[in-house]
Amino acid sequence: MAYSFISLDQQDAVLVLTIQRPDQLNALNKATIEELNSALNAADSDASVRCIIITGSGTKAFVAGADIKEFANFSVEQGEALSRDGHNLLFNRVENMSKPVIAAVNGFALGGGLELAMSCHFRYASENAKLGLPEVTLGVIPGYGGTQRLAQLVGKGKAMEMITSAQMIGAAEAKEWGLVNQVVPQEELLNTCLIVAQKIATNSPRAISAALRSVLSGYAFAETGLNTEIKEFGACFGTADFKEGTTAFMEKRKPTFEGK
Ligand code: COA
Repeated sequence: MAYSFISLDQQDAVLVLTIQRPDQLNALNKATIEELNSALNAADSDASVRCIIITGSGTKAFVAGADIKEFANFSVEQGEALSRDGHNLLFNRVENMSKPVIAAVNGFALGGGLELAMSCHFRYASENAKLGLPEVTLGVIPGYGGTQRLAQLVGKGKAMEMITSAQMIGAAEAKEWGLVNQVVPQEELLNTCLIVAQKIATNSPRAISAALRSVLSGYAFAETGLNTEIKEFGACFGTADFKEGTTAFMEKRKPTFEGK
């Protein structure tokens, strides 16, 4: 299949998936999510692929979030569907892959970008990476699993702080918090990921998929956690705060929220 928003590069048993929307800081629009779903489905059933790396094109961003311009005029129902479809097509899909998926976080990982990185089985970052969940500055909440996965990775208190303050953290802090496993200079990031991926590729694929299932089963989302996120995310789309937040982003100004 020909892709418009992602590129695939297989090096021996390692598949590198690169999101290719550098002008929009690799923001996840619907088409990109669908292309990633298709590439992941193919990779999951391809025995020649034993490990996957996901990264962003360019030197500035991994992924700067869901595409705000695409969802700014959505209704409550469309907002809910956006979240639910995203979980199904991409975020849960990545997490439930039968082979390890590594996020190579090469710059901004914000909103859906950090959520994508957190869906991966582990993360390496470049020194210039900045990670955060800025959704509340748009009048919305993380809707791609961030309310659940961030708390699992860094603990409830830090997750509450990151989500409510919308504060970005740098790579060193992310490592200290356990959000990323390693930090390396940007020019070494992909190679560092490839080295660990090649090592993974020499181990038993059957044992690895069993290990992934076992680790994840211990962290299984309470069904209610994700369902609450989907409902709350959708409900935000019916608020004046959401209108103000997304309009302010597109007008490149700071929002003023009234809590309505
Ligand atoms: N959705 C859609 N477009 C986005 C985007 C997103 N999440 N993030 C960045 N872009 C676009 C910008 O609108 C801009 O497009 P334009 O040139 O057509 O105006 C382009 O990418 C470059 O971004 P810009 O904001 O000019 O770069 P910057 O260096 O000034 O700021 C960020 C970088 C990451 C701080 C800023 O882009 C940002 O805050 N992005 C949104 C992050 C966010 O809230 N994500 C959560 C979404 S749920």
